[in-house]
Amino acid sequence: MRVIFIGPPGAGKGTQCKKLVDWLRVPQLSTGVLLREWVEQGTADGKWVGEHLNAGKLAPDHLVMSMVAKRLAEPDCAGGCLFDGFPRTLVQAQLLDEHLARARHQIDVVLSLQVAEEKLVERLLKRASIENRADDCSQTILERLRVFRTQTSPLLDYYHERGLLVVIDGERSEEDVFAEIKRAVALHATVGKPH
Ligand code: AP5
Ligand code: MG
Repeated sequence: MRVIFIGPPGAGKGTQCKKLVDWLRVPQLSTGVLLREWVEQGTADGKWVGEHLNAGKLAPDHLVMSMVAKRLAEPDCAGGCLFDGFPRTLVQAQLLDEHLARARHQIDVVLSLQVAEEKLVERLLKRASIENRADDCSQTILERLRVFRTQTSPLLDYYHERGLLVVIDGERSEEDVFAEIKRAVALHATVGKPH
């Protein structure tokens, strides 16, 4: 099972992925987490990418794809994974398609979590007072939202054209959102798949 979560910052990608990990028994692959861990290692390249993240900009496509490819090669990803925040550009989507095609794998479903911008800002500022993410400050949040609109939202058409996109109303309670996600995943896991 390979599921992609697309959503602006604060939409609930991480929250819902964690729930789905238990239900589907496949790991979460968050490029945000992978990048933050890599930046923390403190290399010169990592420092440069860290500045991008803190400014709300995307990391370079090929760097992200190589991190993803490395993670996908680990045994626990053999049966699939949940892509949290990847791909985020059309180039990344094409790179992922090529990578999966080489392994004769495919994406089962793409979930688009939709939440109004004012609610996203509210959620992230609330999280900022609890956690300590360097990119959860007002200015960077606005830039992350802008980057989503300009660079990531074109992916919605890309996956819609392939019949993979399911739009989820992400404004309801975590439990209600999860119930809808489970329905969408169950449908796409069984319909139209060669067995
Ligand atoms: P990433 O770590 O992916 O961050 P993001 O996309 O900005 O999203 P968040 O993690 O902030 O939000 P989320 O959707 O996971 O929501 P969450 O569940 O936490 O990426 C960080 C950076 O890394 C990027 O800006 C970029 O620089 C770089 N990067 C990452 N991937 C990349 C890629 N592929 N290519 C290039 N660069 C990349 O929820 C948010 C809050 O809301 C939480 O406090 C939660 O408790 C709350 N919440 C969740 N659901 C609900 C609900 N239903 N109701 C009320 N509150 C809720
Ligand atoms: Mg997240």
